[in-house]
Parts: sequence; C-alpha cells; structure tokens
Amino acid sequence: MKGKMCVITGATSGIGRAAAVQLGGLGADLILTGRDESKGAELVRRIQRDRAPANVHFIRADLSVQREVRELSAAIRTRCGRVDVLINNAGARFDTFRPSADDIESTFATNHLGHFLLTLLLLDKLKAAEAARVITVASGAHGSAHGDFERTFRAESYDRKAAYGNSKLANLMFVYELARRLRGTKITSNAVDPGGVATNLGRNNGFMSWMRHIGYYALKRELISPGKGAETVVFLASSAAVEGVSGKYFFRKREIESSGISKDEAAAKRLWESSLRMTGLDDHSK
Ligand SMILES: NC(=O)c1ccc[n+]([C@@H]2O[C@H](COP(=O)([O-])OP(=O)(O)OC[C@H]3O[C@@H](n4cnc5c(N)ncnc54)[C@H](OP(=O)(O)O)[C@@H]3O)[C@@H](O)[C@H]2O)c1
Repeated sequence: MKGKMCVITGATSGIGRAAAVQLGGLGADLILTGRDESKGAELVRRIQRDRAPANVHFIRADLSVQREVRELSAAIRTRCGRVDVLINNAGARFDTFRPSADDIESTFATNHLGHFLLTLLLLDKLKAAEAARVITVASGAHGSAHGDFERTFRAESYDRKAAYGNSKLANLMFVYELARRLRGTKITSNAVDPGGVATNLGRNNGFMSWMRHIGYYALKRELISPGKGAETVVFLASSAAVEGVSGKYFFRKREIESSGISKDEAAAKRLWESSLRMTGLDDHSK
C-alpha cells in the first residue's frame, strides 16, 4: 500500500481505527476522520510511532452534518491530488429518534447520506487514481429491512432496529448503484459485513443497550475483536485478489449474497435520486 492514499471515516474507534492501524502498517498514506480531535491525534501518534515519518493526518468532521461533510471533502481535496481508497466506515445507531443539524433522522444522515455526499464529492479524486476502491461497511442487519425509508426515518414511526437495518440497506443499495454507475471506469465499489465486533457501536444509547448488542454476538460465540473485524475491509483495500471486482458484498474475505431487496435496481435508483435531493447535489457520477 506504499504511496496509496486511503481515506477512512469513523477512524477514531472500533473497526475504522483497527483498519487505520493495519493499513498504516502496510505503508499506506492515510487521511483519518472522526468527530473527536483528541482521539484522532492519539491515533496519528500511534501510527507514526510504528512508522515515522508516516503521511497520516486526522480531519475532524461530523458526517451527519452536510456542511461539515463539504468542509471535509474540501480539506481532503487540498491535501491530495487523488484518493486510491475511500473507506465509508463511520456508523451509529440511535435508540430514539434524533434529528440531525439538517433535520434528517440521524441514523440515515450519518450512515448513508454523509457517505453518499462524501463519495460523490470525491469522485473526481477517485477517478484521478490509477485504480480506486470505494469500500462501504454495511451489516447483516440490513437483512430484516424492507426499504420503506420515508416511513422508517419519520419521528412518528421510529423504531431503532428498523432505522439501523434500513440505514445499512441504504449502504448496500448505494454500493451496488455506485458500481453500476461507475462500470467501465477504474473505480470499484464493494460492501463489507464485518460480523459481530466488540466496539463502541451503540454505546451512545447507554450501557444496557450497548451490552444487548455485544451480548447477542457473545452468546452466539461470534463476537470478534476490532482487529479481526477490520480484516475484510483491509483485504478489500489492499488485496490483488479483488482487483477490478465491483458491486459485491463480502464477509470474512469471501463474497456473500445480500437480501433480495438490496438488489432491487429500481429502489436503488429511487434512493439515489432522493439522496441527491436531500444533499442538494448534482449527479457527479454522470
Ligand atoms: N460492531 C459491529 O458488530 C458491527 C456489525 C456490523 C456493522 N458494523 C458497522 O461497522 C462500522 C464501524 O462501527 P464500529 O462497530 O467500529 O463502531 P464504533 O466503535 O462506535 O466506531 C464508529 C466510528 O464512527 C464514528 N462516527 C459515529 N457517528 C459519526 C458522525 N456523526 N460523524 C463522524 N463520525 C461518526 C465514531 O466516531 P466517535 O468516536 O466520535 O463516536 C467512530 O469513529 C459502522 O458502519 C457499523 O454500522 C458494526
């Protein structure tokens, strides 16, 4: 990965942090993002301690705030001429309805719209790379989601499980639609299910809620460390085995099937169009 510029969202904790350390160890140049300056600075020091003078920078941004995503994209653009790997990893779940600064439900705003906006704003930088890879961290939780996005993300009908599942379904629809729109270019778009990983996901909802998530995987004896959880992300970012592979969903470094609805092309197009409207974007992928 020497000389490859990798951008990782949600690098201050869990899977994103572990992916940053692993890719840093492989010699990648890194732009790491998250909301917490001190955690970001600590991570930069950690990577530079192993590999000085590594080209590693942290940029603070809240992905649920569209103005901050635009500022993040502008800051990335001034730092690098191209982006070889974009890892859309940041994610959150909310037990109760919470509107974002843009008055959009926060799970959808963070997990889907923030990454939709960031990816499209960086498309020309991805196109400038010899061969670029966009990797989006989805989840097996998408499997129970029905894709009724408008209803799911309204305050009156909010259900935490449906909100998270649908945000991850949106991730997958975005991954596949991006792959279709980028067919014939040198940019690939793939998704990852990291498995059940012992991270801080859901900790914002309180200890019991967080333990419910961890306990579910622990009881099934499927709980893995962040380092293990990051392995498929790093594989997709770095392995020659997936060169040119696009529009696929991976678990434990193997391609797997996602739900039927995640592959509904008409639904993915509708999501794309509404995401463009909600972010006020022109279609950069054309
Ligand atoms: N853990 C699992 O079992 C599991 C399973 C399937 C999929 N996933 C997915 O894996 C990805 C990584 O999650 P994780 O498990 O590593 O959780 P985590 O430890 O909570 O890490 C999440 C990262 O996303 C960042 N983030 C959250 N909200 C953000 C926002 N509004 N703006 C910018 N950054 C934000 C967090 O930053 P802060 O430090 O500021 O909070 C943190 O760096 C997520 O997409 C999640 O859905 C996880």
